[in-house]
Amino acid sequence: MTDDLVERARDALADAYVPYSEYRVGAALRTADGTVYVGCNIENANYSNSLHAEEVAIASAVRDGHREFDRIAVSSGARDGVTPCGMCRQTLAEFADADLEVVCDEGGDDTSTYTLGELLPNTISLETLSAAAEQREGESQHDDADDSSGDTDQ
Ligand code: THU
Ligand code: ZN
Repeated sequence: MTDDLVERARDALADAYVPYSEYRVGAALRTADGTVYVGCNIENANYSNSLHAEEVAIASAVRDGHREFDRIAVSSGARDGVTPCGMCRQTLAEFADADLEVVCDEGGDDTSTYTLGELLPNTISLETLSAAAEQREGESQHDDADDSSGDTDQ
């Protein structure tokens, strides 16, 4: 039996706007309270403004106040088991833990399932930046202490 979330991702790719690549992608993101947000890719003539299906689903969920996710399904028209690209993995990591389940549609009832941690180990996060800020704070206090002892630091 086909996974319900994969079904939602398949349905979503019907709305993809892909005049350039003709490669349709759909994503279905399940929030902690069970609400599902879907997205499709939306391309642009300048290429770089193209939106990925996962980005659209994440943006819609966050806009509605959801910041906790436990599962995402991704499907392409080719049913080729496409996984979220590096950019989308990083965007997911902003809100989801490493154990987020990423289900990729291989066609029929077949899927490949990964955790976000497998797809994106060693991610940069809010904690990375907070730790660096704390380190700078510690260093500037150390410098202040040096200055007050009369040393000049040229
Ligand atoms: N695409 C997605 O929507 N999600 C991904 O993470 C991989 C790539 C889209 C972008 C572009 O419209 C098309 O697939 C071909 O790269
Ligand atoms: Zn992407």
